Amino acid sequence: MKGGCLHRLLVSKLCFGVVVLLTVPIIVLLLEGAPVLTIFNTRPEQLKVNSNGIIQQQEQEHLGDDRPSLAGLPGSASRSHTNKDCNYAKGKWVEDDKRPLYSGNECKQWLSKMWACRMMRRAHFFYENYRWQPHGCEMPEFTGPNFLNRMKNQTLAFVGDSLGRQQFQSMMCIATGGKYSPEVEDVGWKYGLVKAPGALRPDGWAYRFPATNTTILFYWSATLSELESLNSEHAVTSYALHLDRPVTFLKKYLNSFDVLVLNTGHHWNRGKFNGNHWELYADGKPVGNGTRLADLSRAKNLTLHSIARWVDSELARRPQMKVFLRTISPRHFVNGDWNTGGTCGNTIPLSNGSEVLQDHSIDIPAESAVKGTRVKLLDITAISKLRDEGHISNSSFKASTGINDCLHWCLPGIPDTWNELLFAQI
Ligand SMILES: *[C@@H]1O[C@H](CO)[C@@H](O)[C@H](O)[C@H]1NC(C)=O
Ligand SMILES: *[C@@H]1O[C@H](CO)[C@@H](O)[C@H](O)[C@H]1NC(C)=O
Ligand SMILES: *[C@@H]1O[C@H](CO)[C@@H](O)[C@H](O)[C@H]1NC(C)=O
Ligand SMILES: *[C@@H]1O[C@H](CO)[C@@H](O)[C@H](O)[C@H]1NC(C)=O
Ligand SMILES: *[C@@H]1O[C@H](CO)[C@@H](O)[C@H](O)[C@H]1NC(C)=O
Ligand SMILES: *[C@@H]1O[C@H](CO)[C@@H](O)[C@H](O)[C@H]1NC(C)=O
Repeated sequence: MKGGCLHRLLVSKLCFGVVVLLTVPIIVLLLEGAPVLTIFNTRPEQLKVNSNGIIQQQEQEHLGDDRPSLAGLPGSASRSHTNKDCNYAKGKWVEDDKRPLYSGNECKQWLSKMWACRMMRRAHFFYENYRWQPHGCEMPEFTGPNFLNRMKNQTLAFVGDSLGRQQFQSMMCIATGGKYSPEVEDVGWKYGLVKAPGALRPDGWAYRFPATNTTILFYWSATLSELESLNSEHAVTSYALHLDRPVTFLKKYLNSFDVLVLNTGHHWNRGKFNGNHWELYADGKPVGNGTRLADLSRAKNLTLHSIARWVDSELARRPQMKVFLRTISPRHFVNGDWNTGGTCGNTIPLSNGSEVLQDHSIDIPAESAVKGTRVKLLDITAISKLRDEGHISNSSFKASTGINDCLHWCLPGIPDTWNELLFAQI
């Protein structure tokens, strides 16, 4: 099954009506060339053009009220638990009956159905009862109250692809203890995160916890790069993907974040680029078509380096902000890829070992991008690589097509650990 034509409808502003009519029969939208089983997760930010007036207005309000408060935020005194010399990525998985950190049956308010494995036809949940123990580091107790107290008057933002969205949902469940939390306020409008007319969902979400005045936010940007509409008068719009320019949302809102977690990785393939009509640009000029940057791994490398340098220059002005580049989340398809019958059927935890011993990340482009900058690496690649049994696999009711999801993780699950490692470093 090819999702390309549907996808073209999604990215085309002229096709909103059609998209709405099509939504009911579509269960799983597969985007060619990549193992993404989520529904409609590739709407580029250009769709906001439709609601531009509203966004503009909100931005002014937003910029008007967040600036003066930044100087008064709690500083290093409350960060005494941070263990500066620790390599959190080096350590081992240990059994822990106090895990998971929330119940997959209870956290219905924040978990997408497509990732809540407790709500699926799954027989084993061994993957839930492990904790990551870095070698020689103190891990602070990661609970919702501890996190919210640490984040008083602060905003944590995740910007990235569907794996970033998983980390966001995990954090919402941890922060609320997985309990229904009617007091949590939807503040998406403050960041222009409103559903555009005809869209299936907004480009992200933002929620505020009134008791501590903490905001947790997710913005969907698959490449972290600015997208610019090239020929909006056509039914099928192409986009310049500016490898060396951060996505507009970040430029607008970076100043209101206290902790930022960036990720990108699984959309840097030809299928996604063709399906989305993304054309590579650097230095304001097209660079695809046979040049070195036409190689998408080089293109991604340029984006990672550019964004790390840009954030670094922003950090010079706001040194109390903490920015992390999360390394790539590993896939575990065996005997095929996502669309050629690949599976990840192992149910025995840690069958390939439980320890990570190397000092460096196996995500070399990410590690090299942050080198020499104030951006930190949230290195989860090798850790997560040991957890092939924690993917959605064939648990989903939507897997009847024979497609297994060996990219996304069950929640509760592995992304909870990414957040635990994040908490230890903020
Ligand atoms: C909430 O925190 C923001 C800074 O993140 C601050 O501007 C605002 O005044 C705080 N609001 C309250 C009610 O404390
Ligand atoms: C949060 O912001 C409010 C209002 O600006 C302020 O009164 C309070 O002291 C702040 N709390 C912390 C922990 O910074
Ligand atoms: C790409 O290169 C081919 C041959 O080198 C050329 O004919 C074509 O016009 C180029 N396309 C673009 C969009 O530059
Ligand atoms: C990645 O990009 C940086 C900065 O542009 C460059 O120095 C480095 O050689 C690149 N690495 C690869 C593998 O292309
Ligand atoms: C999922 O796959 C495993 C083996 O890989 C199989 O034992 C199990 O029955 C499958 N579950 C479903 C619901 O198809
Ligand atoms: C287990 O480790 C071996 C050797 O490093 C590797 O080839 C294999 O792909 C791993 N299997 C899984 C399921 O990660």
